[in-house]
Amino acid sequence: MLILGIETSCDETAAAVVEDGLSVRSSVVSSQLVHALYGGVVPELAARAHIRMIVPVVEQALREAGIDYAQVELIAVTHAPGLLGALLVGLPFAKGLSFSLNIPFVGVNHIEGHIFALRLEYPQLQPPYLGVVLSGGHTELLFVDDWCKYQELGATVDDACGEAFDKVAKLLGLPYPGGIEIERLALEGRPVIDFPVADAGGLDFSFSGLKTAVLYYLREHPDAHRPDVAASFQVAAVRQITKRVEQAVRQTGMKKVGVSGGVAANRYLRQQLQLLADRLGFELLIPRPQFCTDNAAMIAAAGYERFRRSGPSPFDLPAFARRSFAGSNQQ
Ligand code: KG4
Ligand code: ZN
Repeated sequence: MLILGIETSCDETAAAVVEDGLSVRSSVVSSQLVHALYGGVVPELAARAHIRMIVPVVEQALREAGIDYAQVELIAVTHAPGLLGALLVGLPFAKGLSFSLNIPFVGVNHIEGHIFALRLEYPQLQPPYLGVVLSGGHTELLFVDDWCKYQELGATVDDACGEAFDKVAKLLGLPYPGGIEIERLALEGRPVIDFPVADAGGLDFSFSGLKTAVLYYLREHPDAHRPDVAASFQVAAVRQITKRVEQAVRQTGMKKVGVSGGVAANRYLRQQLQLLADRLGFELLIPRPQFCTDNAAMIAAAGYERFRRSGPSPFDLPAFARRSFAGSNQQ
């Protein structure tokens, strides 16, 4: 089955063609550069850019996959969570395409998409495993019972992990999106500053105290060596993640841990998680960086599985700015 995936939940217009939910035939991601001018995503500008880009991006994905519209058999589209104005470009576009081509469409939760990025990288992967999603809007620790069946073990109580990277990048005068900029700057510095590693209780996360600690440090040390600040922040943020993963592995006895979402592209995080995996003896699964950050191939992969399990979505499926993905009852 050839699935066309469409993703417009934030500042990336993305389309992909995936065969049988596993094999990526094409994946096109157009990142909106306009937001860099404002130091963060401006929702109205994002929506307008999606309107401009959706047709060319979808057509490029079809071209690169060597197919035309008539060969698409299922459309998978992000319908939640995200910027409403942005979701309201991709979702109606997918519905219109579904209607005119007379093929089904299925709405996908963006976070579930990040979970399915793992399946693109490891087609043989079978749950159960411990899932960690680290994106710009979400930080989740999950028990993945089966595909499309999750139990939330922990989540952030304030900022998402990627959000902390972006905010600290801003404090350091780095451009948006900040995660990759922090990673680059940290390479030139040493983690000599002792920023706090938060403990939000249980398997929850907290990143806003760390962000504030960096803010106060920079106020008190206006001449601080910025690469050292970036490296020290990165160490504290990553340590919190490795600590929670260690706790969760010990609690659940899981031998497989899958990590995805934009922050999982971070090389220092990947190294530290690998060291932990070697120490505790679990298998670490992390997709290649292009599948960690937002893309539509992961949406197609998730949509395929949702469709197999519960059929198409109705034409009146709404877009939701916030929406839980846990459980198998989202549609
Ligand atoms: O999953 P994603 O692409 O989009 C959302 O669903 O939010 O995640 C984007 C987040 C941003 O906060 C970005 O700064 C962060 O992931 N990110 C990184 C890296 N690449 C992207 N954070 C740290 N290191 C990176 N290399
Ligand atoms: Zn995302």
